[in-house]
Amino acid sequence: MSQLFIGENLIHLRNDRVSYLIHILPGGVPMQLYWGKRLNAMEPASLLRHHNIPGDGSFSVQGCALDHVPCEYPSFGLGDLRHGAVTVRQEDGTASCDLRFVSAEIDTEKQPLCGLPASYGKEQTLRLTLRDELLGLKAVLRYTLFDDCDALARSVELINEGTQVLALERAMSLCMTLPTRSWDILTLSGAWSREREMQRRPMLMGECSVSSINGASSLQASPFLAMLSPEATEQQGEVYGFSLVYSGNFYAGAMVDQHRTPRVMLGIDPDGFGWQLEPGQSFQTPEAIAVYSREGLGGMSAQFHTLCAKHIVRGKFADQPRPILLNNWEATYFNFDHEKLMKLATTAARVGVELFVLDDGWFGHRDSDNSSLGDWVVDKRKLPGGLRPLVDDVHSLGLKFGLWFEPEMISPDSDLYRAHPDWAIHIDGRTPIEGRNQLTLDLSRPEVCDYIYNSVAAILAANPIDYVKWDMNRNFSNIGSAGLPASRQRELPHRYMLGLYGILEKLIHRFPDVLFESCASGGGRFDLGMLHYMPQTWCSDNTDAYTRCRIQYSTSLVFPPFAMGSHVSAVPNHQTGRITPLSTRGNIARSGCFGYELDLNKLTEEELTEISGQIAAVKQIRNTLLYGRFYRLLSPYQGNDTAWITVAQDGSEAVFTFERALSVSFCNPPMVCLAGLDADARYRIEETGEVYGGDELMYSGISVPLGYGDHTSASFLLKRI
Ligand code: DGJ
Repeated sequence: MSQLFIGENLIHLRNDRVSYLIHILPGGVPMQLYWGKRLNAMEPASLLRHHNIPGDGSFSVQGCALDHVPCEYPSFGLGDLRHGAVTVRQEDGTASCDLRFVSAEIDTEKQPLCGLPASYGKEQTLRLTLRDELLGLKAVLRYTLFDDCDALARSVELINEGTQVLALERAMSLCMTLPTRSWDILTLSGAWSREREMQRRPMLMGECSVSSINGASSLQASPFLAMLSPEATEQQGEVYGFSLVYSGNFYAGAMVDQHRTPRVMLGIDPDGFGWQLEPGQSFQTPEAIAVYSREGLGGMSAQFHTLCAKHIVRGKFADQPRPILLNNWEATYFNFDHEKLMKLATTAARVGVELFVLDDGWFGHRDSDNSSLGDWVVDKRKLPGGLRPLVDDVHSLGLKFGLWFEPEMISPDSDLYRAHPDWAIHIDGRTPIEGRNQLTLDLSRPEVCDYIYNSVAAILAANPIDYVKWDMNRNFSNIGSAGLPASRQRELPHRYMLGLYGILEKLIHRFPDVLFESCASGGGRFDLGMLHYMPQTWCSDNTDAYTRCRIQYSTSLVFPPFAMGSHVSAVPNHQTGRITPLSTRGNIARSGCFGYELDLNKLTEEELTEISGQIAAVKQIRNTLLYGRFYRLLSPYQGNDTAWITVAQDGSEAVFTFERALSVSFCNPPMVCLAGLDADARYRIEETGEVYGGDELMYSGISVPLGYGDHTSASFLLKRI
């Protein structure tokens, strides 16, 4: 159970495993006293001595001493020489902000954040109110520590109670100080088709950060970082993980100061951000999550996965088996008609697929990616009877029907653009910069949001559609809005996100039976924010099984298998040209929301039989694959082999997955030590009938027989007996 104690100068949040302590300094500056393993004493006053904080009130707040203090919400210019969490410029042009303690109160349960995605839960929430008297600025810092995972949700609301317009230039969601010792930093950075590569390096003095200023959480970096003790491994060692519940521009960084103390901050990237806070108005930052683990990266991931399952993902699909799908994109690209789609769907139904997804190209006159985004009217050349006959025909095969949209975009060659060129994000006088031949709609404008909502809702209302793939395929450029005054242009990126979240909130409430999957040129918006609306995200356009080992392995640092869309595609792979066995493609793809993305009608009968077998097997074990506890065993970032295991929540079964990138001659089969099993139980390997003790499998290992060739793999179902 989480507990929240408010003493005279000390606040203690804790659950059964971790504690977070805040001390209010004599001058009213709140400082972070502790974040780590649970402390027994509610008021461990000795911690103050440990931090060299005098108990007699002599600690100088006005002088330079704040540079030594782990402030909860610091600002630059009050003696703290590090980057602050908040910068507020007043009308005279100066920017200093001195937030002092006003009150600490308790909300009986966690409240939603106005207009933004946020974690939810029944846990008590601390409201720590600070105020700058000169500015008339109030800051409400919210903290929720969950019962069932060691995750702390934090956010900040800034309220202008003064008489002048305050310009926010920086408003971080979280600032946290870590103990003064050596740390490694781990981030996830990449590119299109190479999303979320793991980057671990020692933290030295100075700053190390990842960020996005392209309008989305991005392909290039994820809103996540972890600080690890240098000896931390998958299973052991102290790890502090951080992530944002946000899908737009972000900053996530750590800075080791002159005292060798790291300060971590996450929030909207200040580059390109600004907000005019009128008297009486408030600004809500996105929520940040901090998790704590003493069981290495595996422990950190377990906290994030529970957070996703119990406090982020909503709706009826949150804990349901996800349908096995066939997506026509790599099978047909833009070149299809009703008949061709039905041939695909018919074969899909024959092999056991449950959901047929029609991807890009069904609307306007979109024969390539150079037209029609914004014109959400079915292309009668391809589907003469419209969508409904196709949906009905697919349903009559016993399949569900899914449809692709890219609603946030506009093609210059579209009726929408011809009618409303100013609805695109643009700067007057500048030549529009197209990305994938398209522009971005200006979601800071309510009328544009209404258009998007109405277009998508009309199609979902007129057709019994079971699934929507919500795509987004370009970055911001020429960032200007015809709907905002000059003084508010810097608000556009965040207002865009508020517009998007507003549309999504309305859609998921009106269509609760539709399963939504988020996508952005692959995994360009894989974040806790989108997961709050859509329970699964397309991991990457790269479906090559070898690359997917890397991408899914690193994605699992934060996100559980049920959040990751992963499909079997054709060989040679369309992104890498690589040829991998169908069995390996199946083994890797089934470790997430499983599906196919290829022309089944080009396969041999033997291949179709193998696919039927893959699908039948997944149907038996998908609850374990999607919702079991996921353990990474061998890292593709460290060697030739990848391995992981998912263990059913009730421990009754586990699925082990192994891939070897390059074959090795004249070598014993690999022995892989499993994890998460009951050491005292016995397990039968269903594929071989062999029986082993859980202790043997975890401490001695499982021998993995491999065939010849590169990219061989194995997957075993272990049943506890
Ligand atoms: C990018 C997505 O990642 C792909 O899966 C596909 O939907 C294309 N867009 C369609 O244009």
